[in-house]
Amino acid sequence: MIAQRSSSKCLLEKLDISYPIFQSPMAGVSTPEMASAVTNSGGLGAIPLAPINFLHPNSIDKLKSLIDSYTLGLANKNNSNTINLNFFCHKVEPEPISSEIANWKTLYQNALNLPESILGKTKFTNGNISFRETEQDEQSLGKLFDFLEQYKPKLTSFHFGVPSHATIAKLHELDAMVFVTATSIDEVRVLCEGGEGGEGGGGVDGIILQGYEAGGHRGNFLTKSIWDENLSTQSLFQKTKQYVEKLEQDKRPFLVPAGGIMNTSQINWYIKNGASACQLGTVFLASPESTTSSFFSKLTQATPVLNNTIMIDVVSGKPARCIRTEFIDNLYKEYQSGPKSLPPYGYMYSAYKQLKTIAETAEPDTTLRFALNKDIGFYLAGQNFYQLEKGSTREIMKKLTTNLEQDLQP
Ligand SMILES: Cc1cc2nc3c(=O)[nH]c(=O)nc-3n(C[C@H](O)[C@H](O)[C@H](O)COP(=O)(O)O)c2cc1C
Repeated sequence: MIAQRSSSKCLLEKLDISYPIFQSPMAGVSTPEMASAVTNSGGLGAIPLAPINFLHPNSIDKLKSLIDSYTLGLANKNNSNTINLNFFCHKVEPEPISSEIANWKTLYQNALNLPESILGKTKFTNGNISFRETEQDEQSLGKLFDFLEQYKPKLTSFHFGVPSHATIAKLHELDAMVFVTATSIDEVRVLCEGGEGGEGGGGVDGIILQGYEAGGHRGNFLTKSIWDENLSTQSLFQKTKQYVEKLEQDKRPFLVPAGGIMNTSQINWYIKNGASACQLGTVFLASPESTTSSFFSKLTQATPVLNNTIMIDVVSGKPARCIRTEFIDNLYKEYQSGPKSLPPYGYMYSAYKQLKTIAETAEPDTTLRFALNKDIGFYLAGQNFYQLEKGSTREIMKKLTTNLEQDLQP
């Protein structure tokens, strides 16, 4: 029997993978070693490219080096292009104005009791250049496409927005599938049919359906917060399924739910009900292949169920789900009672990261209320983090795939 165009079987065939499991690209957290362990185990590894500024002359070298590390870890070197290359595609943001910078400093001064001598060291430069900016620079885009033409990644994905029609067409020419994150049915519609706010909408191959319980930044690109239903992964998936069933067969995208998926029975349920694959991030956070392994390993040894997550935009400038810590709570409380206009995402996130580096490398100073050597980490994780178990990425994949039912769909 020929697999239906948007079925899981069809996606696995296209990607040449054995299991419908995508590792979430996790900027700053997942590593090429995690990606190769997932691909070696029959799933699809991902490399997040948000930290690379493709306008910079050495960006392609950085990209190559990530891919080399990924390939080095692969058991089968022929799988080197079995990968999801992930880009951030948010609207290009303006530089912060001086009052926003001043508000940010006041916030951190009050939340952490940090003096101007430390806060003054942070620079407000854009640390997350959007793929849209790369699209506006012909030379940089050309270099990136030249590389991709050689490398031929099987899948590219975009978070926070849709690339242009020209980009999608070019990636299709290179035989790369294009997946985009959606968090609401309005975004799903734009991805399938095009329309206002979607720029390149229409013609995507697949949709990452990110529910509200998902860890990390919410990839929404249309819905303003007051209208946002904050759909759970399951509701978003069910709603989307009903909508795509009304589309012609050849227009139906692959559906990949993401958010709160931690075990085999959840994956089986989604696949049985028409998902093409599931994307999982939080489940890998305590593995040695995660840069936040030590924090999450400690958490799993304590009583994780007593901890909580929060969706918060005060650290980076965009809503993201993270673990509540003393630092996050302090920051949030101060923000509630202080001025609300802060620098745009990219600039604000970069300033926070600089401060974190200063905090991590500074001599302990007990005169500060929130001593500088205290942990000011921003630990992105989904609501189901409390189900985390220790183990290597390979061991986690083994567990996830052991009772995975195959042939659940026509
Ligand atoms: C630590 C962390 C970092 C993330 N970074 C990215 C990223 O760089 N790009 C992206 O598309 N999604 C990113 N996400 C979101 C994931 O793609 C996905 O939606 C999420 O992991 C699914 O929920 P789960 O973490 O509960 O499994 C991140 C998630 C986490 C937990």
